[in-house]
Amino acid sequence: MGTARHNLRVDGARLWSTLMETAAFGGTPAGGINRLTLSLEDGQVRDWFRNACEAAGLTVGTDELGTQFALRPGRDMSRRPIATGSHLDTQPTGGRFDGILGTLAGLEMVRTLNDAGIETEAPILLVNWTNEEGSRYAPATMASAAHVGTFTVADILARADADGTTVAEALARLGIVATEPTGSRAIGAFVELHIEQGPILEAEQKTIGVVEGGQGIIWFDGTVTGFESHAGTTPMPRRRDALTGLAEVALAVERIAHAHGPSAVATMGEAVIGAPSRNVIPGRVRFTLDVRDPHAATLDAIDTDLRAALAEIAARRNLAITLDAVWRQEPVPFDPRLVALVERGAESLGLPHRRMVSGASHDACNLALRVPTAMIFVPCKDGISHNESESATQADCTAGADLLLQTVLTLASSPAAP
Ligand code: GLV
Ligand code: MN
Ligand code: MN
Repeated sequence: MGTARHNLRVDGARLWSTLMETAAFGGTPAGGINRLTLSLEDGQVRDWFRNACEAAGLTVGTDELGTQFALRPGRDMSRRPIATGSHLDTQPTGGRFDGILGTLAGLEMVRTLNDAGIETEAPILLVNWTNEEGSRYAPATMASAAHVGTFTVADILARADADGTTVAEALARLGIVATEPTGSRAIGAFVELHIEQGPILEAEQKTIGVVEGGQGIIWFDGTVTGFESHAGTTPMPRRRDALTGLAEVALAVERIAHAHGPSAVATMGEAVIGAPSRNVIPGRVRFTLDVRDPHAATLDAIDTDLRAALAEIAARRNLAITLDAVWRQEPVPFDPRLVALVERGAESLGLPHRRMVSGASHDACNLALRVPTAMIFVPCKDGISHNESESATQADCTAGADLLLQTVLTLASSPAAP
């Protein structure tokens, strides 16, 4: 039996066909996916996922934030399950692999175990976390954060999107009914497969990234306030233009990230004029910042520098500029024993690999605060992600799913909890 398990491989073609089939939910003409969390399209893929899990013999529960938990029983149901999964929501210009690969590879893993008639000691849990992306609702990874107790359920349910629709309302519109409280689902360990979303693996011709942890993140909401006035009659020296102030803010953000390089990155992803009109000088602009670095001290230093730069711009231009940190995720290391297990698994499958830190945020970063956690990365084309052209090869997706299968199988077959 041991040899048979060691030789077990997923069906790469079957995994690929589920990736392509579900890409139709929110599929865009450019070949990407627009499937914002808790949208109608997200509802469609959730229904597909539930049906596929049930057809594979899993029992599916839903928590108060809509996260789906699909359980495959083990011989010893007193053991906490070995969990895997990721997310099925996407960015508005998202691709076919970010999150989706890890979720559907978990399904493929279960199907492979079923086909081989393998029963594990510990149960296996497949998870589709709600709102990993953080595009419609901030913060990213909100449901896994609530699962581990970083936020209360009431806080998250009250968060509103740009149209004022709360998480609670969006869940109700999709008819999502909780069958269990958030945080109640037992998890013994968590292993997540994901595309790298960056260029390193491809450049070094490695198939597997053995992820040692995730970098830290701060999300800011900001405003620049000046004074709306007539575009034709207000002399240049008398203007208090919020948009030109914002332009200086954007450049300061870029300069500060460079100054804390090479690892620091900073992005103004949203910049919205309050009441745009061709012949009105912009009086209000709101913006968002996403700042990341593997070191907490660097995040602190960037925070300090940003505030100083914005104060200087505001004073010089006679504007009011606000900056609120709405989310901070500390850099998080993954479990060294699980990281080593992933590494040994890549070795025994003969897959070229390297250790790395995740530049993107993942639900695994929240789980790592509570349970032994690791991640497996596979390359994506040109390192591009959060783009409709995001692409990964069937061979790499299959290799990642094989390593996920072997890692989960080892953990779930071991006589003791990890
Ligand atoms: C999640 O996609 C992130 O922003 O890293
Ligand atoms: Mn993702
Ligand atoms: Mn993403």
